[in-house]
Amino acid sequence: MTLNPQEFMQKMEQRMLFSNSDKAILNFYADWGKTVVSEMTNCFYDYLGRDPEMSSILNASDGRIHRLRETFIEWFQEMFTGMDAWGTNYAERRWRIGLIHVRVGIGPQHVVPAMATVVREITQKLQAESKGNELRDALSKICMIDLAFIEQAYIKVSSKAVLKESGWTEGSFRRLIATDAAVV
Ligand code: HEM
Repeated sequence: MTLNPQEFMQKMEQRMLFSNSDKAILNFYADWGKTVVSEMTNCFYDYLGRDPEMSSILNASDGRIHRLRETFIEWFQEMFTGMDAWGTNYAERRWRIGLIHVRVGIGPQHVVPAMATVVREITQKLQAESKGNELRDALSKICMIDLAFIEQAYIKVSSKAVLKESGWTEGSFRRLIATDAAVV
């Protein structure tokens, strides 16, 4: 149960209809991204900070929130540049972000509303500046691809841990999940 980040990236690009023209639009607006990143970072951490559970995760250790603000700024800008044109580096970076969230115990209930907040704030900003839908659509697609990496890391790591601990095969594990899902 391993994941090849580049293959996963390609699959997500196809499924999300993330096209070359989306990439060109993002590249074109990379400087605009730099002008709004600070405001987006503030909105994001204000939102997380208003949730007691997420706030306690963010402030669990000294300097974490400061470090997080820095990494969020990088993450946001990488959506526009694609790092290496959304190639291997981009995919591996997104996979690593996913793994880090799993390690610190952040699940779908945290990360999905958080990404929805990013998309909402971007949309509001673009509307306020009367920017067209093309940039909003491209950003929404890449946000969803990044979200898929974090979600996939969660399921991959949890499944791997269960298989290792229990000694089950992947097939029997899948059957157990299907059986349980049928009775829940
Ligand atoms: C849109 C969703 C999110 C994005 C894009 C995001 C982005 C990132 C990035 C780029 C990193 C740094 C990874 C690295 O060090 O290589 C990180 C780490 C982390 N994130 Fe997030 N994050 C998201 C959601 C959340 C949420 C909802 C929480 C908590 C409630 C959270 C808490 C953390 C923590 C605790 C770390 C590790 C910080 C440390 O180094 O101590 N993240 N995140």
